[in-house]
Amino acid sequence: MKSKLKKIAVLTSGGDAPGMNAAIRAVVRSCAYHNVECVGVYRGYEGLIEGDFEILDARSVKNIINRGGTFLKSARSKEFMTKEGRQKAYDHLIREEIDALVTIGGDGTFRGAIVFNEEFDFPIVGIPGTIDNDINGTDFTIGYDTALNTVVEAIDKIRDTANSHNRLFLIEVMGRDAGDIALNAGIGAGAEEILIPEQDLGRDRLVESLKRSKKSGKSSSIVVVSEGGQIGKNIMGLADYIRQNLTEYECKVTVLGHIQRGGAPSCFDRVLASRLGVGAIDALLSGEKDIMIGVIHNKVTSVPFKKSLEGSNKIDQSLIRVADIISI
Ligand code: F6P
Repeated sequence: MKSKLKKIAVLTSGGDAPGMNAAIRAVVRSCAYHNVECVGVYRGYEGLIEGDFEILDARSVKNIINRGGTFLKSARSKEFMTKEGRQKAYDHLIREEIDALVTIGGDGTFRGAIVFNEEFDFPIVGIPGTIDNDINGTDFTIGYDTALNTVVEAIDKIRDTANSHNRLFLIEVMGRDAGDIALNAGIGAGAEEILIPEQDLGRDRLVESLKRSKKSGKSSSIVVVSEGGQIGKNIMGLADYIRQNLTEYECKVTVLGHIQRGGAPSCFDRVLASRLGVGAIDALLSGEKDIMIGVIHNKVTSVPFKKSLEGSNKIDQSLIRVADIISI
């Protein structure tokens, strides 16, 4: 699989996700293995525009597989959304004689990469790194599994208080417009109700269901609310509505926020990141470009970049059924 690839750049962009460091490490070491020079770009597309580059070798990425965040740092670049910004980025890549770019990030990162590729025909390979798991063409995104474990651990702790005080807790989790974190962490943490953007059943149904479960003998309740969707966007409003219509419980709200993005990556995320990092360099060496490397049915697979943005992975309806049955 030898090609003319001599030098590549790697960056992380958008919201950081646990496992991004492991992905950078895999890209850098894969380059070292294949005698390809690797340049790290700091602060995502911002660093590309400013030429904030550093040569990375196999030892530059020691002791980072276990660290959350991204040592290359990240940004949501407004300037890269402009033609002038992208031109500056391209000029830096050409000046540094870089043959291809590996971008690690989520849908915003990929959208930028697609436009950049269309304008300059510059080879790019994407690696899905976001806690949201909202990228099409991969079963899992890097960081999602760690975030799930963080959420479950937090809810387990909240459950202690919920139980001790006979309280109802509304717990808001991240995920942007995707309910994957809410649904899976909700099942894992034994939530009574899980509200996701993909299935807005309304506030009245929620109140009726909570009344029923109280009558059936439950003394406390956990409701996981995804930040997206109509209900999730106003969790305080939902809490007020519940307080007015359900007097059986004292209702409290916890917004988990950015703790969901931090912490050491799980083993699953480290392995996923390592496989996708190696897969990205393999793909470039084979002459592939303008693709995303994902994992489908446990096989590393490349998908056309544009496909990764064609709607996020659909919510698994069978999981919704499982959640309904086990919360009775
Ligand atoms: O995309 C990852 C994510 O954490 C989303 O779940 C969340 O909506 C968003 O980023 C928060 O972004 P920021 O850190 O810029 O506030």
